[in-house]
Amino acid sequence: MREREVLFSSSEIEVIVNELAEKINSDYKDKNLLVVCLLKGAFIFTSDLVRKLDINVVLEFMTTSSYADSEISTGDVKVLQDLTRDITEFDVLIVDDIIDTGNTMKFVYNLLKSRNPKSIKTCTLLDKPSRRKVEFECDYCGRVIEDKFIVGYGLNYYDHYRNVDHIFAFKSE
Ligand code: IMP
Ligand code: MG
Repeated sequence: MREREVLFSSSEIEVIVNELAEKINSDYKDKNLLVVCLLKGAFIFTSDLVRKLDINVVLEFMTTSSYADSEISTGDVKVLQDLTRDITEFDVLIVDDIIDTGNTMKFVYNLLKSRNPKSIKTCTLLDKPSRRKVEFECDYCGRVIEDKFIVGYGLNYYDHYRNVDHIFAFKSE
């Protein structure tokens, strides 16, 4: 088995999620928050995050394809499963696991913005700014990381490792 390098243990992830939740709780106190979870990668992060929110939250899910089943982003984002409601009355917060090239977040941001929500912001657990192909800055960012392909806590490689409770990279041989 290839050796693993743990980047964030489950307790370290909890600290990051708590920090983000604290900011969101205070910023959205008097708003009408709609959290849009980008499937599949953000499902665990989103479920932990929303349980730390003590404000009113409506949840929606969107599935986009980009990486498909490889480590290489094509830049071509498609909506595989769309939202189930009108968002004009909501303060939308798009939640993803990680921003890499920026293609996914930028695409979803522009798409949902065109539907005229009250406001729209973005949240990611992790960010790899050194990998950007399009300009994009996230509003709520857990941690910035270096250019490494990581898995666990929702993040996958060929749909594996999503269930692992920490985040790790495989050490190169
Ligand atoms: P983008 O390149 O910013 O469009 O990232 C697209 C998607 O690729 C993210 O939502 C993640 O689900 C996935 N992704 C990016 N970097 C990694 C990684 O290091 N491990 C696993 N998935 C990743
Ligand atoms: Mg994703």
